[in-house]
Amino acid sequence: MLDLVAEHAPYRGELIAAFERVLDSGRFVLGPEVEAFEREIAAWIGVPHAIGVSNGSDALLLALQAVDVGPGDEVICPTFTFFATAGAVARLGGIPVFVDSAECCYNLRADQVAAKIGPKTKAIIAVHLFGQCADMDPILAAAKKHGIPVIEDAAQALGAKDKGRQAGTMGTLGTFSFFPTKNLGTLGEGGLVTTADPDLAEKVRKLRVHGAKQKYFHELIGGNFRLHELQAAFLRVKLKHLNPALEKRRLNAKKLIKVLHEKWGAVMPIVSCVCRGQGQVMDFTPKTVLLPFSCHSGESDHTWNQFVIRVVGHGERDALRVKLAAEGIQTEVYYPRSMHEQACFLQKDANSYHSSETLSKETLALPLDNIETYLPSVL
Ligand SMILES: Cc1ncc(COP(=O)(O)O)c(C=O)c1O
Repeated sequence: MLDLVAEHAPYRGELIAAFERVLDSGRFVLGPEVEAFEREIAAWIGVPHAIGVSNGSDALLLALQAVDVGPGDEVICPTFTFFATAGAVARLGGIPVFVDSAECCYNLRADQVAAKIGPKTKAIIAVHLFGQCADMDPILAAAKKHGIPVIEDAAQALGAKDKGRQAGTMGTLGTFSFFPTKNLGTLGEGGLVTTADPDLAEKVRKLRVHGAKQKYFHELIGGNFRLHELQAAFLRVKLKHLNPALEKRRLNAKKLIKVLHEKWGAVMPIVSCVCRGQGQVMDFTPKTVLLPFSCHSGESDHTWNQFVIRVVGHGERDALRVKLAAEGIQTEVYYPRSMHEQACFLQKDANSYHSSETLSKETLALPLDNIETYLPSVL
């Protein structure tokens, strides 16, 4: 799906220079590269505090720990997401309380969040799936009413916006992943926690190093969640190239939407999105290809970390996948099983997550980086 060698080729020299800089410095853990990266990414996002951590899964864990999520606490999150969202809650002994997702924009039903808040609710995780922000206003309003913190899982959405607000700046804390497939991916693993709250930032910094501000004096039970100097140095190089890379993704998404519409008869699923509680799910005949929908944001607010279409009807997505594979086109299914259906989280009220289950059967991610090379062969 993604040719990382080709992606790195234009600035290979800069990456090698970054490697040499770290090699020659003799500093490999929490040194000047991590500090500089934290300053640079905080400025890019427009957030007061950015803390570099080991990966996006640990970023979620740290954010949840920072707001004191512990055994028996409930945390509301979408069921249609990557495992780490719900996994981080469970790693702390918390209980993920799932919300269904919208069949058009794939993000959680923001209009259903308030109804899930109960006496044990300790936090809400809003996931900005595939590079598009969840509809934050109803979520923030419900959280504010009950005095509950909101964590934005922006692992896939660096640079995405909701009504002009950057992902990772709207909630109490934001979390990001720098896994190589992300729009800002490093040459290994990395993650980030963002916040405007200096006390929470300080707490996350402590938790990152076994809960100690002063070495060997432990105030909290943290862990080793450090971002490596080398990864920070690579991220600094790649951050300089991020804006043009995002522009290219947006341009490619626009082209792909146009071509899929013209050649496959692919259509937009809806005119106004259900995630905001005002649209309606429409019926489409089997085999209809539904285009990814930017529900409440302008085109430039979606970062297209994944370009995900839907193919309506039983088995139709899988049939198309096989056909594309025969043409040498790799696709991916995000996600074949929602969290409420996972063996470790099995919940019985499956009827409440009808849309997520439909998405699991019908979504298909197409490659976005090399559309020029594969489009002529399929269409
Ligand atoms: C929505 C979401 N949350 C969290 C993560 C976890 O990030 P990482 O792989 O860096 O641990 C991912 C990674 O794919 C993700 O997509």
